[in-house]
Amino acid sequence: MAEATSMGKTFYIETFGCQMNVHDSEKVVGTLLRSGYEQVHAPDEADLVLYNTCSIREKAAQKVFTRLNEHKASSKLGRAQWREGVGWIKQQKIGVLGCVAQQEGEAIFEAAPHVSLVVGSASYTKLPELITRLEAGEKRVTGLSLDTDETFDTEFTARDNPYRAYITIIEGCDKHCAYCVVPFTRGPERSRTSASVLEEARRIVDLGYTEIQLLGQNVNSYRDASPAGLNFAQMLAAVAAVPGIRRVRYTTSHPRDFTREIVQAMDSHPAICNHVHLPVQSGSTEVLRRMLRDYTREDYLERIAWIRAATRPISITTDIIVGFPGETDADFEQTITLLDEVGYDSIFSFQYSPRPNTASLALDDVIPDSEKGQRLRIVQDRQRQIQEERYQRFLGTECEVLVEGGASRSAGDGSARWKGRTSENLILNFTVPTGCDPVPQTGSYWRTRVTRTAPNCLIGEAFAGPVFTPTRLRTTSPADHRGSDSTPPRSSREATIGSRAQRLDAVPFRIL
Ligand code: 5AD
Ligand code: SF4
Repeated sequence: MAEATSMGKTFYIETFGCQMNVHDSEKVVGTLLRSGYEQVHAPDEADLVLYNTCSIREKAAQKVFTRLNEHKASSKLGRAQWREGVGWIKQQKIGVLGCVAQQEGEAIFEAAPHVSLVVGSASYTKLPELITRLEAGEKRVTGLSLDTDETFDTEFTARDNPYRAYITIIEGCDKHCAYCVVPFTRGPERSRTSASVLEEARRIVDLGYTEIQLLGQNVNSYRDASPAGLNFAQMLAAVAAVPGIRRVRYTTSHPRDFTREIVQAMDSHPAICNHVHLPVQSGSTEVLRRMLRDYTREDYLERIAWIRAATRPISITTDIIVGFPGETDADFEQTITLLDEVGYDSIFSFQYSPRPNTASLALDDVIPDSEKGQRLRIVQDRQRQIQEERYQRFLGTECEVLVEGGASRSAGDGSARWKGRTSENLILNFTVPTGCDPVPQTGSYWRTRVTRTAPNCLIGEAFAGPVFTPTRLRTTSPADHRGSDSTPPRSSREATIGSRAQRLDAVPFRIL
């Protein structure tokens, strides 16, 4: 792999979208640090500004262009530098990475002429080479080929999360659901070898992590590219068996490829968390057929029954799309009854958004935005009631939580409250007994008792002392240890790595 010669240069990266993007950015950051760049946390301080983008819904893609426009006002962008043999070049380079880059391609240069680098995720292995060309003065550099069987494997990952490490096991998607742009932006499915996944898991444990999240657009269709030939259930079990791993999560699953064997792996490996995210999209078999999801409501409920029959209770969450073309009132009602029947612990719900290249663009019976909005409110109201009821089952029970930091509000009496996450992936805010020493540290595990429920979280009290503290607990931000006062204000860009990195700025990046 070519390496950019970039001593003394700085970069800033901002990430939009899903965990796959967040983790891709961790790898991009590692690659740039390796190439001699230094990371900064304000775009104005950077020689290279990168936006890692999402185009899953129209609003997400628009947000990127809004950011690019805001950036045009940047002071550093306008200044130029003389380079021998090249002439005047703009000092600051702007790059668009990820799904919008792949989807819009060279059209980005027309819409935002200050951009000079456009790279889709399937070309990240070429990033050092593309950046070298950019530094050499090329005005418009692209990496847009989807014709690859490579995955973005790199030893150089700057992990941005102090307690959870991500591992991509499969990239791309071969499913072509009628509404989904992902197969066009991330390309065809490519699985990593089990050896490389397991080696990364072991390195992660050596770094002091105890929780791993396996990532893929559809992890269930993982197929080991090596002769070992592990399927997803076997891969999951193998990761859970790596010594030192206390929690394994995986996302996201496709019901069509979700097998009983996965539930069996969860049964036999206590390290696999009590949680399955199984996106259903709609409760109507007819809508599922039009969505090209390749399963019926009954098929989906059969998988739910497998999960419910596991030897320990497993929390189930899902994704819902409302207002898909042709969705009748009766179809929509089927989604509501499915929510009741399954009893999800939480859902992500979206209004259907037409996306370029997708099959659903050709469908008639477009649902008006006002109707989509109304349906979304109904789904969310119903889910709120379901959640309230479902959370009651935790009252009085004991839960082990992984401490993620200081919670957003202090307890009623003003005492500090910490934020933990249960194996079920629920947030549990808790207090500790007076005088408890040590106080909870991010990344440690505490046993708690649930005393109350709130609409989106559980509330409880910890028993004195951690049940487990990783041996090489990472340095944590002082802000993580305080209550409400230290919690930074929510900003509209809170979901971006740029702002998260500022919140966690006391957490040093580590190169894997
Ligand atoms: N419109 C609305 N929601 C969508 N999703 C994917 N594509 C679209 C679209 N075009 C949702 C699905 C998916 C989640 C990641 O985003 O629910 O599971
Ligand atoms: Fe999109 Fe369907 Fe692939 Fe998920 S499985 S990424 S919804 S095409």
